[in-house]
Amino acid sequence: MNLAVFASGTGSNFDAVMNAIENGNLDARVSLLVSDRIDAGVIEKAQKRHVDTVVFNPKSFVNKEAFERALLADCKDRGVEWIILAGYMRLIGPTLLTAYEDRIVNIHPSLLPAFPGKDAIGQAFEKKVKITGVTVHFVDDGMDTGPIIDQEAVRIEAQDRKEDVERKIQAVEHVLYPRVIQSLKAKEESK
Ligand code: GRF
Repeated sequence: MNLAVFASGTGSNFDAVMNAIENGNLDARVSLLVSDRIDAGVIEKAQKRHVDTVVFNPKSFVNKEAFERALLADCKDRGVEWIILAGYMRLIGPTLLTAYEDRIVNIHPSLLPAFPGKDAIGQAFEKKVKITGVTVHFVDDGMDTGPIIDQEAVRIEAQDRKEDVERKIQAVEHVLYPRVIQSLKAKEESK
């Protein structure tokens, strides 16, 4: 299973996927890391692990179609089969959605359909919900709207600060994401 990870943040989920591969819990390889932010911590993590990185500035392209065409070529050149979004803060457009139909997945830090979009943990915290969680879903053209693959709940305790919730959510993400990716591989093989 040949993966590209698209990420724009610190890259803890990228690391979790790489660790799962190294530990033999995920039978895959990551042949490309794509980031749209030059200052994203994930880039250094990818370079340390000798994963090819493509960093692009969306503003230097005329539109989304133009940069997605370039990204598609980068993926195809490396034989990428699945695109794993891990903190990539952009909607995926028709160019990539068509080329990788049902092969783009995302992880989101809430129990979708609750709290889509930015700062899902902050949204849950503000609403004082007692249970939030993590969702892994297929990507469609909406914001965190695609079919849900798996979810796991996280309890928000009365004494929790936002940072505590973030820590608990991340701990769940780092186990759930590799596990779901492995299950997608198993499903594909049984077809
Ligand atoms: C994760 O919380 C993920 O759910 C969201 O973006 C965050 C990325 O974090 N989509 P990291 O860069 O993997 O640490």
